[in-house]
Amino acid sequence: MNKKVVKPGIYSVGVVDWNLRSFHGYSIHKGTTYNAYLIMDEKIALIDTVKAPFAEELLDRISAIVDPAKIDYVISNHVEMDHSGSIPAVMNAAKNAELITSAPNGIKGLTAHYGADYPYREVKAGDTISLGKRTLTFIGTPMLHWPDNMITYCPEEKILFSNDAFGQHYTSNYIFDDEIDLPTALYDAQGYYANILMPFGSQVKKAISAVEGLDIEIIAPSHGILWRSHWKDIVEKYRQFSGEETEDTALVIYDTMWHSTEKMARRVAEGFDKRGTKVLLYDLSVCDLSDIMTEMVTARYVAVGCPTLDNQITPRTGALLTYMKGLGPKGKKGFAFGSYGWGGQSIDIVNKELLAIGVEIVLDPMKIKYIPSKEQLEEIENKVASI
Ligand code: FEO
Repeated sequence: MNKKVVKPGIYSVGVVDWNLRSFHGYSIHKGTTYNAYLIMDEKIALIDTVKAPFAEELLDRISAIVDPAKIDYVISNHVEMDHSGSIPAVMNAAKNAELITSAPNGIKGLTAHYGADYPYREVKAGDTISLGKRTLTFIGTPMLHWPDNMITYCPEEKILFSNDAFGQHYTSNYIFDDEIDLPTALYDAQGYYANILMPFGSQVKKAISAVEGLDIEIIAPSHGILWRSHWKDIVEKYRQFSGEETEDTALVIYDTMWHSTEKMARRVAEGFDKRGTKVLLYDLSVCDLSDIMTEMVTARYVAVGCPTLDNQITPRTGALLTYMKGLGPKGKKGFAFGSYGWGGQSIDIVNKELLAIGVEIVLDPMKIKYIPSKEQLEEIENKVASI
C-alpha cells in the first residue's frame, strides 16, 4: 500500500469512501474520506479511526508502516462512528494501547458505544501527552459538533488534527490542498459547514480563536484533504461562515403543482436580477436540500414559494423548512409566495416558518389565485426589484 506521508514519521492511514452519497441523511456528491493519522515516535499514536466497515483497510495501512500491536495511544477526538467505528478492531489489535478521550463527554460517548472495558484515559483541555520527540496537546471544542469533540495539536510539527472542523466531503488519492483543485475543495468545505456545523457558529468562533493562538503549518481534518499551502484560506472561510457575513445572492426556492408558483418564482428571480443580485433558482422536485443549504451559508435573500395542497404546504416545502429550522441559518432576509385555488394557507404557513427560523421578512406574503396574470407577474417582479 502506498504510504501517505504527512511529514516524516507522520502518516495519513485513513480510507477513502469513494461511493458514499448519503452522509447520515444529507447528500454528498463525491463520497468522503475518514482520515486517521499515525505518529511514529518513541511512543506510537493513532489519531482517530475510520468507519467500521473499513477497519480492515485501516489496519492494513497501519501494518504497512508498523505492527498495530505496537501502538501506545489511540486518540479519539470525536465519538461519532465515522471516526470511532473501528476502535474495537484497533484496540483488539493494539492490546497495550491506552484509549485517549475527552473528559467527561468522550468517555461517556465511547462507553455507550463500545463498552467500559478499554483502558481509557480521560484528558481535559490543555492536557498533553509526550510521545518522545513530539508532544500532543488537547484542545476542547465541545459541540463542534458533539459534546465530546476535541482537537489535537502537535507543536513540534505544527500540525493541528482538527477532526470534523475544516473538513470536506472531498475524495482523492492525493492528501494535500496543493495537489488538488482548491476552489472545489473550498466549496466542498462550505457544503460540509452548511450541513454539519451551521448550527454551531459560536463554537466555531471559539475554535477559530484557539487556532489563531497556534503556530500552524498543516491543518489535518478527519474528512477530505489536508490544508497545507492554504490553511489560512479555510480558516478565513470559517470566519466568514460563522460570522454570518452574506453576499448579494438570492435563493429562490419553490415547489409547484400546475406551474403557477413556478411562474411566480421565475419572476421573483427576474426581480432580483433587475436589482443586480445574483440569483439561484431551485425547484424542490429536482433539487437537493443539501446543495441549497450549501448556498444558504453565504446568501443574503431566501424566497420560498409553495402552492396550497390540502390546506397545507407541500411535503417537499415542509422538508426544506424543517431542515432550515434545524440548521438555523442566520442573517437572512426573505419572503413567501405561492399560488392557490381556494384556501391559500400555504403562503402564510411559509411566512410564519421563515419568521420562526429567524428570517427578516422584507415583503408581505404574495398570494395569487389559480393562474398569475401578466400584470400580477409584473407586479411581483417590481416588488422584488424594489426591496
Ligand atoms: Fe465526521 Fe461528526 O463526524
